[in-house]
Amino acid sequence: PRSYPVYTLKEVQHHRTLADGIWVTLGKDVFDITEFVDLHPGGNRILLAAGGSLEPFWAMYGVHNQKHVIEILSAYKIGEL
Ligand code: HEM
Repeated sequence: PRSYPVYTLKEVQHHRTLADGIWVTLGKDVFDITEFVDLHPGGNRILLAAGGSLEPFWAMYGVHNQKHVIEILSAYKIGEL
């Protein structure tokens, strides 16, 4: 298994615009989803999670609790907290 760079929450929080890149976390994993924003079936709402955790939003929108959604997200992993 490859090892990933480790980021702080503060670094993640600095990535919440298209210019700086859009980063999110799920558990301890960090993702750069900049390229996915325009592909998101749920539209711009994805930006609500920019710079922070997906958990509160995915708890509200259970549609994400599917294997194929996790597979999409996994492709954007860049690091760990
Ligand atoms: C739907 C991925 C973040 C709201 C979806 C679907 C995918 C997806 C693949 C379609 C699922 C299906 O129908 O089988 C992602 C990924 C995210 C993300 C990879 C983060 C990187 C968010 C956030 C919100 C959100 C933060 C809300 C604040 C929604 C909604 C839908 C949806 C409302 C349903 C859209 C519809 O069917 O009309 N998302 N999502 N998503 N997502 Fe996201």
